[in-house]
Amino acid sequence: MDIKIGLLGCGTVGGGVVELIRMRADKIAAMTGLHPVITDVLVRDPDKKRNVTFEHELLTTNANDIIQNDEIKVVIETIGGIEPAKTMILAALRAGKHVITANKDLIALHGPEIMEVAEQEKLDFLYEAAVGGAIPLIRPLKESLTANEISDLKGIINGTTNYILTKMTESGANYEEVLREAQELGYAESNPSSDVDGLDAARKLTILASIAFGTKVSLDDVKVDGIRSITAADVAYAHELGAVIKLLAVGKDDGHALYLQVRPTMVPKAHPLAHVNDAFNALFVHGDAAGDLMFFGRGAGSLPTASAMVGDVIETLRNMSMAIPSRFRTGPVTTKAVKKGSPEPLRYYLRMHAKDRPGVFAHIATIFSNAEISMETVLQKRAHDNQAEIVIVTHETPSGSIESAILQLNDLNDLLEIKNVIPMEKGDA
Ligand code: NAP
Ligand code: HSE
Repeated sequence: MDIKIGLLGCGTVGGGVVELIRMRADKIAAMTGLHPVITDVLVRDPDKKRNVTFEHELLTTNANDIIQNDEIKVVIETIGGIEPAKTMILAALRAGKHVITANKDLIALHGPEIMEVAEQEKLDFLYEAAVGGAIPLIRPLKESLTANEISDLKGIINGTTNYILTKMTESGANYEEVLREAQELGYAESNPSSDVDGLDAARKLTILASIAFGTKVSLDDVKVDGIRSITAADVAYAHELGAVIKLLAVGKDDGHALYLQVRPTMVPKAHPLAHVNDAFNALFVHGDAAGDLMFFGRGAGSLPTASAMVGDVIETLRNMSMAIPSRFRTGPVTTKAVKKGSPEPLRYYLRMHAKDRPGVFAHIATIFSNAEISMETVLQKRAHDNQAEIVIVTHETPSGSIESAILQLNDLNDLLEIKNVIPMEKGDA
C-alpha cells in the first residue's frame, strides 16, 4: 500500500531525503508493508535549480496543499528555523499527520510544546537528525540506554567549529583566515554566529540533555562560550602542551544537579575526542550500567542527515503498520536543578601578557597561591618590546578559584592583558 508523504522544504537535507526515499522505497515497503511516496513538496521558489528533479506539479508554494491534504499521512519538515516551521508542524499534527524533522533550533526552544501535541494526537514526532546528523543519538538515549542513570555527556556536536579548529591546528593559520576559507567552501554560513558562538552546540546539548537526564532543560541553562577568542598562538601552545583545542558540549549529573556547558577545551592528544576532525561529530556517554560509550560519524550533509530522517520515516511506517501510536511519553522523569558550568575542578590554561621586569612573575605566583591554585606547567618565551608572554597550566582547580585569581590578575599593574583562559580535559574520557 502506498503511503503519501509531504515534504516541507527541499534544500540540502530535503533533497537528500527525496533521493534516499526513492533509492530505498521498495526495501522500506518490504520492511514495513507500506510503500513511501513523496507526493507534494513545499518550496519558496518552484523554478529554482535543485539537486533532485521533480515533475513540476509536485512542487507547491502553499503549505496547505500538504497540511490540509487528507491523503498525506506523514510530513517531513526540512525548512529549518522557528517560523513558519513551528506553525506548519503544529498544524500538520493537528491535522492527524506524523511529523519528522531535523530542526534542532525549533526542538531546543519549543520541543516540549510540540511533543505534547503529538502525544495528545497519538502521532509520531521524531527528530533523530536534529543532533549529530547521521549518528544515532536520540534513539539510543531514548530506547537502548534507558535502563541506565546517565551521568555524563561530552562531545563535539558542531561540525563547522570542528572544521575550523581542525584547519587551524593543521595549518597554524589564524581564526579569521580559516573562517573565510570555511565560508568559501560552504562549511560556514555568511553569518557564522550560530556555529562559532557555540549556540548551535548549546541547542543540541539542550536536546540531548533533556532526553539523557530525563528532565526539562532550556537553552538558558547552558553556559556558552564559542571559538572566536581562539588564536593561532593558543593552538600552537596547545600543541606544545600535547593537546588540541576542541569545542566541547558537556552535560554532567553529579547526583544533586545537572550542569551544562559549551566551551573551547584543550583536549590531550591521547584522548579519543582529540582525533575527531574536520566536520565529524562524536559524543561520549557514561551510563551507570553500560559504562563508557562513544558515538562517532558525520554530523551534517545531505545524505548523512537524510539517513537519520529516513530512519525516522521507517520507524513511523512500522508504527503505522502495527497501529502503535506515539510511543514516547514526553514528561520529565526527574526534577533536578539545572545549573550552568561544571561542578568538577578542571585544569586551566592561561595565556597572559605582562611587563618584562623584576618581580612580575612573583606577583602572579602570589595571586595563584592566595587562590590556592597549584601551577602544573609554566612557559615563558623570549620577551619582545619589554612584554613577556606567560603561559600557565594549573592543576585541577575549582571554577570559583580560577575566577577569583583572574579578578586579582586584572588588578595587577604589571599584567597587561589576560589573552585567554581555556579549560583542559583529563587524558581519558
Ligand atoms: P536549506 O538548504 O536552506 O533548505 C531549506 C528549504 O526550505 C529550501 O528548499 C527552501 O525553499 C525551503 N524554505 C525556506 N523557507 C521557506 C518558507 N518560508 N516556505 C517554504 N519553504 C521554505 O536548509 P538545510 O541545510 O536543508 O536544513 C534544513 C533543516 O535541517 C534545518 O532545520 C537544519 O538545521 C537541519 N539540519 C541541516 C543539516 C545540514 O547538513 N544542512 C544537518 C542537520 C540538520 P527554496 O529551495 O525554494 O529556497
Ligand atoms: N551547523 C551545523 C554544524 C549543521 O556545523 O554542525 C548540522 O547541524
